[in-house]
Amino acid sequence: MNSKQTKNTPITILEDVFGTTKDGVTVKRFKMNNENGMEVSIITYGGIITSLKVPNKNNVSEDVVLGYDLLSDYEKSTPYFGALIGRYGNRIAKGNFSIDGKEYTLQANDGPNHLHGGVKGFDKVVWSAEVLNDVGALKLSYLSKDMEEGYPGNLHTEVIYTLTNDNVLEVFYQATTDKKTIVNLTQHSYFNLSGDFSKPILDHIVSINANKFIPVDANLIPTGKLKDVANTPFDFREPKKIGQEINIEHEQLKRGLGYDHCWVLNDQNQAMRFTASAHEPNSGRLLEVFSSEPGIQLYTGNFLDGTLPNKQGGTYAYRTGFCLETQHYPDSPNQKEFPSTILKPGEVYSSKTSFKFSIK
Ligand code: GLA
Repeated sequence: MNSKQTKNTPITILEDVFGTTKDGVTVKRFKMNNENGMEVSIITYGGIITSLKVPNKNNVSEDVVLGYDLLSDYEKSTPYFGALIGRYGNRIAKGNFSIDGKEYTLQANDGPNHLHGGVKGFDKVVWSAEVLNDVGALKLSYLSKDMEEGYPGNLHTEVIYTLTNDNVLEVFYQATTDKKTIVNLTQHSYFNLSGDFSKPILDHIVSINANKFIPVDANLIPTGKLKDVANTPFDFREPKKIGQEINIEHEQLKRGLGYDHCWVLNDQNQAMRFTASAHEPNSGRLLEVFSSEPGIQLYTGNFLDGTLPNKQGGTYAYRTGFCLETQHYPDSPNQKEFPSTILKPGEVYSSKTSFKFSIK
């Protein structure tokens, strides 16, 4: 039993208007509060978590995710801050893949490759919202039409964000299609558990439950081989500071400009597995991520360069946020050895990730 069932204080969910898109569509915001000082704000544009307030060791709740206060800033330029990513999180080489011999070409929006669903992915569409008060959840739905961004099939997607009183934010994804297609959904929150967005995240102590990671070529496409993390900077089996080895001479770190890689998670026989944790010692905040997905991308904000405005009056400087994106492996549609990302009519894609916050 979880706290939803054992405790009586319900999660409160308040709705207001966050803004209006350039096309005149109203974007709603939902603020979910629990009884232990957590507050999650989610907007219907991109299903974006715009703010996530979590208590520190002194029980002071502060925002720990990068984002903006204004919808217009999200529309202007965002490196996927807090957004839902689809239809395919991460890269597909040259945007090409084939299903049953039929070739599909997606737009190259990241050098020669397709990244995060394309030019107008799930991070930039307006989702329908339904509050599920009895379970403290927000359900977002979106119908992506056949051939939208080049992907086959009418894909009906639902994402349920649930907040519990034991400080877990759960993200549950489901999708169905009417034509064979590919799906790989994820959540692209950038965390800075210090609560201070001017501070780099290099002192966060991270662990990743993975014996192997996925090396990439110069375009960040998997070479196809899995590599042992042992004796590499990619070994996070014992917790260590993100910054401990991020700047050492290593070809993979050079290619990613830091960490921007997918790890092959251990314990894939378990329905939900521990994937990774991050601890920020000053605030005491600990984040633990559990998921049904086989992989997790750690991205250390290597492209943040101080040009985007932050929510605290400054800008988002180099490496001031990190992402833990649970997902299937990059470029799976072109890698026969990787777990399949194919979804067939009649099947239900389903995936779950939990972000658990506590104090250590
Ligand atoms: C993902 C990618 C990165 C980068 C960020 C957003 O994590 O792997 O290379 O595109 O998103 O900037």
